Amino acid sequence: MDTPTPVLTIDGPSGSGKGTISRIVAQRLGWHYLDSGALYRAVGVAAGWADLDLDDAGALVRCTFDTTIGFREGEAGDLRVLVNGHDATDELRTETAGAAASAIAAIPEVRAALKDRQRAFRQPPGLVADGRDMGTVIFPDAAHKVFLTASAEERAERRYKQLKDKGVSVTIDGLLREILARDARDASRAVAPLRPADDAVRIDTTGLGIDDVVARVLDVVSRPAG
Ligand code: DC
Repeated sequence: MDTPTPVLTIDGPSGSGKGTISRIVAQRLGWHYLDSGALYRAVGVAAGWADLDLDDAGALVRCTFDTTIGFREGEAGDLRVLVNGHDATDELRTETAGAAASAIAAIPEVRAALKDRQRAFRQPPGLVADGRDMGTVIFPDAAHKVFLTASAEERAERRYKQLKDKGVSVTIDGLLREILARDARDASRAVAPLRPADDAVRIDTTGLGIDDVVARVLDVVSRPAG
């Protein structure tokens, strides 16, 4: 039997450092990278462009089927996301897109519609899949699974620094409230709630630097699977 293409799943709440760590680890391993949150954000952005009501599940499901989402490398070597052919990379990262994505992600038909699109990223020589349900729902057979956490306070602080660097004016208290609300929504939804897979290695990144976390994740990959 052919050996399946290896997958490393990296799940965790927003601000746990998943995105940064996943990208670095994918680069180190020479594996493909799936930013699954970007798919939900892309649908959120497309729904915003179409002026859809976030309470209208039927319209959002149709929007998911109708939205084309493409990834390509930008001139600076960064990952650009095309939504319906338009470069929406910057819009995708806004709090508005994140909040829309979180609401949309609670609709079971939307999650089902995005399943195959996510699985299509599993290409040789391997895939690093970053999200909430990578190890539990999308790639339950992944050879390596990590669940990253960090205290809500530290996550709010990281986000604050990111936004301040971009010149966006926010308060840490406001961000902390948003993070706690999003955590609660993501963890309590009926389909694919945020939780570690039983076989995931948990890494608490509170107080750890990026290099430390990358080293720990690479260590998980170097262990024999299973
Ligand atoms: O990781 P992120 O912040 O880009 O994700 C945006 C939202 O999408 C988040 O609130 C939860 C949802 N999401 C999800 O439900 N499942 C995933 N695999 C990835 C993201």
